[in-house]
Amino acid sequence: MSDATTRTKGLEGVVAGSSSISLVEGAEGRLSYRGYRIQDLAANSSFEEVLYLLIYGELPTASQLGQIEMTLRERRALPDAATSVLRVLPKGDKQEPIDVLRTVVSSLALVDPDVDNTERDAVIDKALTLAARMPTIVAAYARLRESKEPIAPNNDLGHAANLLYMLRGEVPPEEDAKALNTYFVLAAEHSFNASTFTAKIVTSTLSDYYSAIVGAICSLKGVSHGGANQKAMEMMLEVGDVNNVEPFIDHALATKRRLMGMGHRIYKTYDPRAAQLNEQARIVAERGGNTKWYDIAQRIDNISHTHPYFAERKIYPNVEFYSAPLLYTLGFKPDMMPALFACSRISGWSAHILEQLQDNRIIRPNAEYIGPAIRDYTPLEDRR
Ligand code: ACO
Repeated sequence: MSDATTRTKGLEGVVAGSSSISLVEGAEGRLSYRGYRIQDLAANSSFEEVLYLLIYGELPTASQLGQIEMTLRERRALPDAATSVLRVLPKGDKQEPIDVLRTVVSSLALVDPDVDNTERDAVIDKALTLAARMPTIVAAYARLRESKEPIAPNNDLGHAANLLYMLRGEVPPEEDAKALNTYFVLAAEHSFNASTFTAKIVTSTLSDYYSAIVGAICSLKGVSHGGANQKAMEMMLEVGDVNNVEPFIDHALATKRRLMGMGHRIYKTYDPRAAQLNEQARIVAERGGNTKWYDIAQRIDNISHTHPYFAERKIYPNVEFYSAPLLYTLGFKPDMMPALFACSRISGWSAHILEQLQDNRIIRPNAEYIGPAIRDYTPLEDRR
């Protein structure tokens, strides 16, 4: 437990506030949203249901679920201004979809006439609209950069299925939609992680909802956080063959290179999300008849259980690890993966923004000053 004088690098172990949204039990490898076990939600819930749970605090009734599903479907289309931004942005190899998402979300603030409204109902309204639109932004950019026209949302489809539809141009098999839905459910919320805490800090200054989300996206894209799924997939592609896994790990450890998708600040045992995603990645790979990437991931995972380096440091696969081969097998390029993470985590960010606003006080910690003691000012002409 921390107190006011605690100085800890990376704020490790510091309790920075209270929250009723999710419980992460790192030693036990347990995660629950609003008291519901993540395994039950992953097996039974749609992303829309989890979004409702996170924002309103309770699972929806059938009619409440129908209402939120309809709201999301009605709001998927982008305003013209956002589509124009998407069309003019550069589309080379250096432009990451997460940066495009950040830019377009920021532009959406400029066409919201009620942008600064931080009343609860107004924030919920903005959160639902943005949750509906983010997949449209990501899918449209994925197509535009391949010189293909964006595909309009299909309002007969649920959230995950519609994203695959907008990307592929055809209604996806139910199993693919289920796998992506499971990913969206598992990545939706994780307490005071870096991006969520960023959103809380921005919100605490009474800035607007979009600014908080843009800040969260900026924080998410880092490779220590939500950028790790892309790097994990790039690592698996570099490994290339299941027989290369052991020499790859030996070389990585000898050169102090981190294995991406491994390790976690809070989980010191198997990340419960990784266990669920392992299962989905296997199902999708086996159905598609290509288990190469899943096999590589699993071999790395197995080695991490027995290798003393990982055992001593309690390093296990995290949520990013199996999401990489899962999303790749579903047809997403590695650089799209951080943006997909944002499409899910918008739900948790929004819940935390609402919670912060409910009992707000500006977040402003102290620093331990380690610079020079007070000294006399040296006029410019006397400085050497
Ligand atoms: N590969 C190899 N070694 C690692 C890894 C890794 N992935 N992660 C941690 N270590 C080692 C460190 O080198 C360090 O070893 P040392 O004590 O010999 O110096 C030790 O484990 C502790 O590492 P820290 O960096 O202090 O751990 P911290 O809690 O600060 O970092 C983090 C956690 C950032 C997730 C880290 O494990 C990491 O970089 N992982 C790879 C990136 C990743 O997958 N990020 C996604 C996390 S999940 C999420 O944000 C959605």
